[in-house]
Amino acid sequence: MADTDGIQASKEYYLDRPQTNPTFGLKGCGALDWGMQNRLSNIFRPETGRTVMLAVDHGYFMGPTTGLERIDQTIVPLLPYSDTLMCTRGVLRSMTPSTYSKGVVMRASGGPSILKELSNEQIAVNVEDALRMNCSAMAVQVFIGGEFESQSIHNLTRLIDEGMRYGMPVLGVTAVGKELTRDAQYMRLATRIIAELGAAYVKTYFVEKDFESVTASCPVPIVIAGGKKQPEKDALAMAAKAIKQGASGVDMGRNIFQSEAPKAMIQAVNKVVHENMSAKHAYELYKDLKAQG
Ligand code: 5RP
Repeated sequence: MADTDGIQASKEYYLDRPQTNPTFGLKGCGALDWGMQNRLSNIFRPETGRTVMLAVDHGYFMGPTTGLERIDQTIVPLLPYSDTLMCTRGVLRSMTPSTYSKGVVMRASGGPSILKELSNEQIAVNVEDALRMNCSAMAVQVFIGGEFESQSIHNLTRLIDEGMRYGMPVLGVTAVGKELTRDAQYMRLATRIIAELGAAYVKTYFVEKDFESVTASCPVPIVIAGGKKQPEKDALAMAAKAIKQGASGVDMGRNIFQSEAPKAMIQAVNKVVHENMSAKHAYELYKDLKAQG
């Protein structure tokens, strides 16, 4: 074929089929910058738009809680089964292999321990250090209705402003104090405020009644925290209900690392999140994997 024909053919080809840049179809994230979307795609699997985040950041206010005494022995073997690790910079630098190449969500607020008023947090990591550690997002706790509500919101908005400068997404975490009611009305209020203030995604707790209204009224993805350790069967049922009602994944800690068989549990959670496996089948899978050792 003559060169000119070739040029003509390719012109037609491009005119008929304008090049597109397929966007990462995560809820509410279409207008974010390329770098921001790229980082989020290290957290949310592009094929499913969902994530299994392994949460091991509890030590920043709880110290070496049960299951996190030896992160090198208990958590590192679980990394292949999660999409993302949520941790503190201390744990990342001291105990996480630098060959780990999936997403890291950096716990970036802190201050008080379990012995003090928890809502009195400050920003604990700056965005430059998060970039240095190749993080995919930074997480900040927001205490809606808590004693230091405004301060925690200010932490969130300052981190979002810094994150915007560098393409670093911020995960807003709804913190439920002892005195606050864990119901859909509260979760709707907290998650919506966090999203309106610019968080790229929000972590909240699952509530039995009306959780769908929480995910529906939040314009960005919601992931659920696992909360206190429950029997494996119940934790899997909670995850399955949350996914069915619009959650984009889990950020689960104690129900995995305090499980009798953490490796089996995280694999069962994975099936619920990414393959819509029913809670019943996921529990069967958990038991089979546990028996295999
Ligand atoms: C601690 C956190 C945890 O990451 C979050 O609560 C998830 O862990 P768990 O499933 O154990 O509740 O934000 O402040």
